[in-house]
Amino acid sequence: MSRVSTFIFLIIVACAGISAHATRSSFTDENPIRQVVSDGLHEIEAAVLQVIGQTRHALTFARFAHRYGKKYGSHDEMKKRYSNFVESLEMIESHNSKGLSYTLGVNEFADMSWEEFSKGRLGAAQHCSATKKGSHKLTDVVLPLTQDWRKAGIVSPVKNQGSCGSCWTFSTTGALEAAYAQAYGKSVSLSEQQLVDCAGDFNNFGCNGGLPSQAYEYIKYNGGLDSEEAYPYTGVDGVCKYSSENAAVRVLDAVNITMGAEDELKHAVGVVRPVSVAFQVIANFRLYTGGVFTSDNCGSDPMDVNHAVVAVGYGEENGVPYWLIKNSWGADWDLGGYFKMEMGKNMCGVATCASYPIVA
Ligand SMILES: *[C@@H]1O[C@H](CO)[C@@H](O)[C@H](O)[C@H]1NC(C)=O
Repeated sequence: MSRVSTFIFLIIVACAGISAHATRSSFTDENPIRQVVSDGLHEIEAAVLQVIGQTRHALTFARFAHRYGKKYGSHDEMKKRYSNFVESLEMIESHNSKGLSYTLGVNEFADMSWEEFSKGRLGAAQHCSATKKGSHKLTDVVLPLTQDWRKAGIVSPVKNQGSCGSCWTFSTTGALEAAYAQAYGKSVSLSEQQLVDCAGDFNNFGCNGGLPSQAYEYIKYNGGLDSEEAYPYTGVDGVCKYSSENAAVRVLDAVNITMGAEDELKHAVGVVRPVSVAFQVIANFRLYTGGVFTSDNCGSDPMDVNHAVVAVGYGEENGVPYWLIKNSWGADWDLGGYFKMEMGKNMCGVATCASYPIVA
């Protein structure tokens, strides 16, 4: 066996996580806009008009703040958030006017700058991991034209990683929950926090990133993974509290997809089950609201990839083939916490570092 063929890149997915907490701070009693904390839309509108003035987007911003329960702690904070919001609106309008295969829109992240988003969630470590020679075996089976494992009832509900760079743990549990449901015909919700706290010996870094394939190795060699209930999510790095006695699931092995081999990935997602994948999140992706995401600005190199998720199917929309992917930014993020990514071009590195587990 050649050394080259077994060479494995060990790079870490640092994750794109999101925080609603960043804007949550309390008003002081002297603060003239303190009504924003507790009251309805009219009060928020009044506060915004007072701070921002009668500008073009002030009322849109007030509705946004109301809808997403935003709480801005000072006039400066509100002004900064407003300016980010206007930039988002401009990006959305300019993008949507081009009539491309996907749309952008206002969501809870519209008052964050890309710099803030990427610094907090993407900037931590290097990114991704890739396997030069994977272990997935192709067969002659005819693949289904479309696939959506949600219809088989094995895909668990969308979760929310919050402000911790723990996407890799959600990608791991998402694929494992599906594998377990497929094997045992019952659902389970598994612990991300155990992976955040305990999987460091396998080149994972808690809230600073990690890799599903390395998380599978950790679970395989450490007796199993607890349930969500037994080891609940806190979203911060903590001390490992795991003992293998009550593990909810055990991992026999994990199968790696060869770096960039979208045919292997399609075969696995088509006939095996959901697969952990990673890709590069770029600036406009956080405002995705539907359609098939595609871009000339993202890369497919292991170093580019910065967010781990779960591919649960594939299909075609208006002639464009896509991967159907489960994210971990909550179910309010579109499409119900899922998105579609163009298939066939290793778009944004979607097939660069993919793997799926085999449960015991
Ligand atoms: C899959 O990749 C991981 C590293 O990301 C590695 O530790 C593991 O041995 C690989 N599995 C197989 C079956 O090659």
